[in-house]
Amino acid sequence: MITKPKGTYDLNGVDAKLYDYISKCSSECFACYNYDFIRTPLFESSELFHRSVGEATDIVTKETYDFKDRGNRDLTLRPEGTAGVVRSFIENKMFGNRVDAIKLYYNGTMYRYERPQAGRFREFCQIGAEVFNSNDEMIDAEVISIGYNLLKFYGFDNIVVKLNSLGDAESRRNYTEALKKYFEPHIDNLCEDCKNRFNKNVLRILDCKVDNDSNILKNAPKISEYLTIDSKKRFNKVKELLTLLDIDFEVDESIVRGLDYYDEIVFEYFTLDNNLALGGGGRYNTLVKNLGGPDVPAVGFALGVERIIELLKQDIDENKYAKKIDAFIMSISEEEKLHAIRLAQDLRLNGIMCEVNTNNLSMKSQFKIADNLHANFLVILNNEKLSKGIVTIKDNVTKEEIELDESEVLDWLLGNI
Ligand code: HAM
Repeated sequence: MITKPKGTYDLNGVDAKLYDYISKCSSECFACYNYDFIRTPLFESSELFHRSVGEATDIVTKETYDFKDRGNRDLTLRPEGTAGVVRSFIENKMFGNRVDAIKLYYNGTMYRYERPQAGRFREFCQIGAEVFNSNDEMIDAEVISIGYNLLKFYGFDNIVVKLNSLGDAESRRNYTEALKKYFEPHIDNLCEDCKNRFNKNVLRILDCKVDNDSNILKNAPKISEYLTIDSKKRFNKVKELLTLLDIDFEVDESIVRGLDYYDEIVFEYFTLDNNLALGGGGRYNTLVKNLGGPDVPAVGFALGVERIIELLKQDIDENKYAKKIDAFIMSISEEEKLHAIRLAQDLRLNGIMCEVNTNNLSMKSQFKIADNLHANFLVILNNEKLSKGIVTIKDNVTKEEIELDESEVLDWLLGNI
């Protein structure tokens, strides 16, 4: 038997229903916030991720799926959504002469060669957003609050946003120097990867999974001591706006994010009783320019759909996600079936969810399947009545029956579902 590749999964059953629910909730929510949907390729040139996510990150050094295509091009399955959206923003010249914020959202699979474990897959799905052309703290607050409110819409009532500031270029230059000074005498006690990180990007030592618990990391200088006045002001303004919007947040200086492109505000979403991030994001004001685009600021976030489904499933209200159709159209004879398929199309094209008898089911099986599908009404077709143009509709809960002219069924159902 051929089995699925390690770290992947088939989305079906309750998980698929939850995914569908989460996707629909998200598009509705993004529409209310005036975001447009965008889809970018699953693979991009490898260089894009090296230059954006960063050479010294775990994602680029250990986790990308890299391959050459038949034309000998170096390609990578996208490990995250931001780089592709930025590439698309630049390539499609979306900035034009716009003076307003350009707000985009996506929902798609990402690929990271990580060790599979609870909430960590090699193929996983992110729902995220990127906003270009605004450096306004109102947009920082909007982006943070969309992720927070989405998680609330999905059904969580215990979300907390962990917030930090990585400061502007000057703050980080000063901080990087301080970190170098601090780590230099300890370098021999750090893991092999951190020795590399020390030269390539010393900030990355702070999110090392190996040295995570060591006192060397715990006692490292804190970014808050190196923020410029402007960065501090921005951070305070964002906190003020989040308070105004009733977003539950706390400042957590350990949030440094695992990708290189961030500056200023960074954040991650957690539930109070779980230490796996459900999502994260931040501002990246230099990435568009660094990738060859105009000097356009940006900010965004992404939620991890698998982690969300896993947690929602633990507390699932089966009724909320159970299949419910409006009507089951019952038929047995060939003549009845012809009426059924025609009527079903008319109903479906008018937004009524219905099912018909296929597979030559007996009446008993049809009743059972209608119950399994939680059909509100049964539309019973019977040769004798059909010859007079009449059908029977039965309320599947109260069991009351009425007879109607076949031409009236659609309007009656529209008025009663
Ligand atoms: P990230 O923190 O790397 O950020 O990923 C966002 C979320 O994706 C994580 O919080 C987690 O829920 C989920 N995730 C990450 N890796 C896996 C995995 N292997 N299996 C399952 N879920 C996973 C980004 O990707 C940024 N692009 C977010 C962003 C958008 N920043 C600005 N704009």
